[in-house]
Amino acid sequence: MAQILIIDDHDSMREGLDLLLRRRGHTTHVAENGARGMAVLEETGMDLVITDLKMSEMDGLEVLEAVRGRYPETEVLLITAYGTIETAVRAMKLGATDFLTKPFSSEEFAVKVERLIKAKEERERLRRENRSLRVENTYLKERDEGHEAKYGEIVGESAPMQRVFRWIERVARSESTVMVYGESGTGKELVARAIHAGSGRKSGPFVRVNCGALSDSLLDSELFGHEKGAFTGAERRRRGRFELANGGTLFLDEVATVAPQTQVRLLRVLQERELERVGGEDTIPVDVRIIAATNLTPEELLDGNGFRQDLFYRLHVVPLTLPPLRMRKEDVPVLVHHFIDKLRERTCSPVRSVTQAALERLAEYEWPGNVRELENVVEQALVLADGPELDADDLPPFGMRGDTLATGPDPMLDSEGTDLNRVVEGMEERLLRQALSRAQGVKAEAARLLGLKPSALYYKLEKYGIES
Ligand SMILES: Nc1ncnc2c1ncn2[C@@H]1O[C@H](COP(=O)(O)OP(=O)(O)OP(=O)(O)O)[C@@H](O)[C@H]1O
Ligand SMILES: [Mg+2]
Repeated sequence: MAQILIIDDHDSMREGLDLLLRRRGHTTHVAENGARGMAVLEETGMDLVITDLKMSEMDGLEVLEAVRGRYPETEVLLITAYGTIETAVRAMKLGATDFLTKPFSSEEFAVKVERLIKAKEERERLRRENRSLRVENTYLKERDEGHEAKYGEIVGESAPMQRVFRWIERVARSESTVMVYGESGTGKELVARAIHAGSGRKSGPFVRVNCGALSDSLLDSELFGHEKGAFTGAERRRRGRFELANGGTLFLDEVATVAPQTQVRLLRVLQERELERVGGEDTIPVDVRIIAATNLTPEELLDGNGFRQDLFYRLHVVPLTLPPLRMRKEDVPVLVHHFIDKLRERTCSPVRSVTQAALERLAEYEWPGNVRELENVVEQALVLADGPELDADDLPPFGMRGDTLATGPDPMLDSEGTDLNRVVEGMEERLLRQALSRAQGVKAEAARLLGLKPSALYYKLEKYGIES
């Protein structure tokens, strides 16, 4: 049902129309002159304004012009006295949706109003559909239907990413150990999940261990489990991630950080496919497919970083290196569309599409934080933008990663000036997210990285609505 405003300086006419429309279930507002009517419009958006033509002060044509100028989505129905057809024609030229000449029956009036409202709803529906089609058309339609099932959330049209997709498909079916290389934020975890999802083990568990987030001794018992009393605090026997991943895939993330003693244990499991829990003597067989990941290169891994060569060759069986985003900038548009689609609900954003200018600006940047950094920038833009189309101006300041901040260029003040608070808040939010991500979500550590008291960090996370 519609929101309708009736403007007429004749009380009986205004009240009669009002009653008629309310009986049909519409929400109505009334005003006895144009100025009052405009004030009502200011407060409440209307689907339809019905106005008499001849009124003292602001007449119907002036109302029409004002509504057209300020509320282009609102329909206007003019009511004219018999014999002023010329004015009616003028009104249509000025953009009235329709007019009705007096005298008219209540039936005529009702039919006309319903028709106007239906037409307006239909137009809005089409507009909404068009918008979402525009987002979808750009990439979804081009993706074959099985894409998502096969590769999860990974998107990319560039030649390097097409190679990655083919590679995933081939490797998934095998049981081989996989080593995924790639800079931070290139999608290593997504690839690991896609391999699992495409494998014969897909109905088994996918278990991730972030080797970089755990202390050496904790990692040991996390991976291999422990027996009761194996060390102080081991009050119960506990199964490790290898056992939990039985029949599925174990993803060893940030494997380069594993301590020497744990490397030896890992090597043994990879060779023998069996393990002993920490403090235990029983040998437990494991049926697990291993995928490991690191943001070092193979050379760096072998080159004096304390990584055992024998373990390296056990992991580096089928290697894959994910290309950094700066080497495949043609993927920026599909990624941006993908993130708009993925994040717009969570951010309650009105954004449905993105302009060419915005895409070009995003493609100019080198993205040292790769896809993750791009995703963060799009998320911020979605939060900040207030229209349906994301333009270059809606983009938050980017290229100000914490690690380039000290040496990077100062943010420039251009001729139009800037909004200092917005820039500073944008930076603050980015640094908070980075610190949290680097601290693997451990807030105390993130606070330390930022030189903040934990309480100050909590306050800021709350302020920006960041969840670790
Ligand atoms: N090709 C892609 N398509 C869609 N989303 C992607 C793609 N690559 C990365 N992402 C997104 O970017 C973010 C980072 O990806 P992911 O965690 O897999 O990176 P990573 O290589 O493991 O990074 P790190 O080494 O920092 O852990 C995630 O939110 C992921 O969904
Ligand atoms: Mg990762």
